[in-house]
Amino acid sequence: MTIRLAVNGQDHAFDLPPQTSLLEVLRNDLGLNGPKYGCGYGECGACSVLVDGQAARACVMTLGAVAGRQVTTLEGLGTPEAPHPVQRAFIEEEGAQCGYCLNGMIVTVTALLRDTPAPDRATLARALRHNLCRCGTHLEILRAAERAVT
Ligand code: FES
Repeated sequence: MTIRLAVNGQDHAFDLPPQTSLLEVLRNDLGLNGPKYGCGYGECGACSVLVDGQAARACVMTLGAVAGRQVTTLEGLGTPEAPHPVQRAFIEEEGAQCGYCLNGMIVTVTALLRDTPAPDRATLARALRHNLCRCGTHLEILRAAERAVT
């Protein structure tokens, strides 16, 4: 069965079982390593992507579930030369230590700003509460998220 979807604006067709993990397809078949494999259970947020503009956890999303939809990964937000405003805010605030969680933080803030253009600090913290950072740099991450708003 061929499953078609768009990833970062490009159409793709996969002859894979529909239950194949979206994260596996993105990383292994398309070489998009922005989304990270953290827990594999939908708990940490490292694998976050946008599906039709909404944040989603690619590790627990199947290929079949995104058939015909638009998937955007960290790579699709901006480029090193022209980063997305949220990416730029995280760079400028150095909102990371090891950086493993950053994909999820940036994707989550991007999705939030799409629907809530001027969230306050409490709203940002609430949106990021299920994105885990093992280095404990939550305050820097929150500062970067606030910078993305301004
Ligand atoms: Fe997907 Fe942790 S790897 S939520």
